[in-house]
Amino acid sequence: MTGGVGSGRGGGGAGGCGDVLGAFAPDSFAGRNVLVTGGTSGIGAATAVLLAELGADVRALGLPPAAARELPAHERVRVEEQDVTDRDGLARRIAESRRLDCLICCAGVSRDRAEYGRTAWDHVLAVNLDATMTACQAARPLLARGGGCVVTVSSMFALFGSRDRPAYSAAKGGITQLTRSLAAEYADDAIRVNAVAPGFVATPLARGVLDNPHAARAVLSRLPLGRLGSPREVASAIAFLCSTAAAYMTGSILTVDGGYSAV
Ligand SMILES: NC(=O)c1ccc[n+]([C@@H]2O[C@H](COP(=O)([O-])OP(=O)(O)OC[C@H]3O[C@@H](n4cnc5c(N)ncnc54)[C@H](O)[C@@H]3O)[C@@H](O)[C@H]2O)c1
Repeated sequence: MTGGVGSGRGGGGAGGCGDVLGAFAPDSFAGRNVLVTGGTSGIGAATAVLLAELGADVRALGLPPAAARELPAHERVRVEEQDVTDRDGLARRIAESRRLDCLICCAGVSRDRAEYGRTAWDHVLAVNLDATMTACQAARPLLARGGGCVVTVSSMFALFGSRDRPAYSAAKGGITQLTRSLAAEYADDAIRVNAVAPGFVATPLARGVLDNPHAARAVLSRLPLGRLGSPREVASAIAFLCSTAAAYMTGSILTVDGGYSAV
C-alpha cells in the first residue's frame, strides 16, 4: 500500500478527533445480535470488531482472507466461512440466527477490466448485488421481530460510473437503488435500511488502485482530506446508521469518502 493513509486531515491523529470508539456510549450495542457478510476482511471485519467492542454479538461471514491478520479478532465475533454466491447456503445460514438486530451487507469484489467479460461480470454482480438482496430477504423475518436495521455497502462508483470497473459500478448503483426500495418495503416491519458509500479505503479490495503509484497520487491529490479512509472510519458510519442516533433515517445513502465526491 502506498503512503498517505494517515497523513492528511481529519483523522484520529494530532489535531483529529481520536478513535471512533469514544463517539459511542460504552456498551451501546450490548445484547444486540449482528450479522456481517464480508466480515472476514477490510471494512466488514472492522465493523464486526467495532460493534463487538460496543457490546454486540457478531457473526462475520465471508471467504478466508489472504492474510489471517485480516480476520476480525474479538471474543464476541464468530467468524464463519460462507460463499455469498451460494444463495440457498447464505439464506439458510442467516435463518439459523436465533435473533438478529442488524444486518450489514459488506461482501464485495471487483475484477477490474476483466469485468468486460461475461464470467467476471456475472460474478461481480452476484457477490455485490444479488447477495445483498438474498441476505436482506433471508434476514427480514428475523429483523421484523425487533424493528431491526440493515446497512448495505455501496460506493462512490454508484455516482460516477467507472471505465475500469463496469460491473462493480453497475452493482453499486444497483445497491443504492435496492437500498431505497427496501427502505420503503421494509418500513412496514419497522426495519430501517440505509447504505454507506465509501470512497477510497485502505483494504485489500482497493489495492489495485492504491498500489499503482500514479493512480494513488491522482486519488490523494483530489481528496480534500488528503488521505485514504480507514476501514474503522467506515465502520463508524455503519455503527451510526445501526444506532438509535439514526432512528429517523431510512433509505439514506451516507457518503464516507473524505470529500472525494464533493469536488
Ligand atoms: N476499499 C474501498 O476503497 C471501498 C470503497 C467503496 C466500497 N467498498 C466496499 O466495501 C465492501 C468491503 O470491501 P473491502 O474494501 O473491505 O474489501 P475486502 O476485500 O477487504 O473485503 C471484502 C469482503 O467480501 C468478502 N467476499 C468477497 N467475495 C465473497 C464471496 N463470494 N462470498 C463471501 N464473501 C465474499 C471477502 O471474504 C471479504 O470479507 C465491499 O462491498 C466493497 O465494494 C470498498
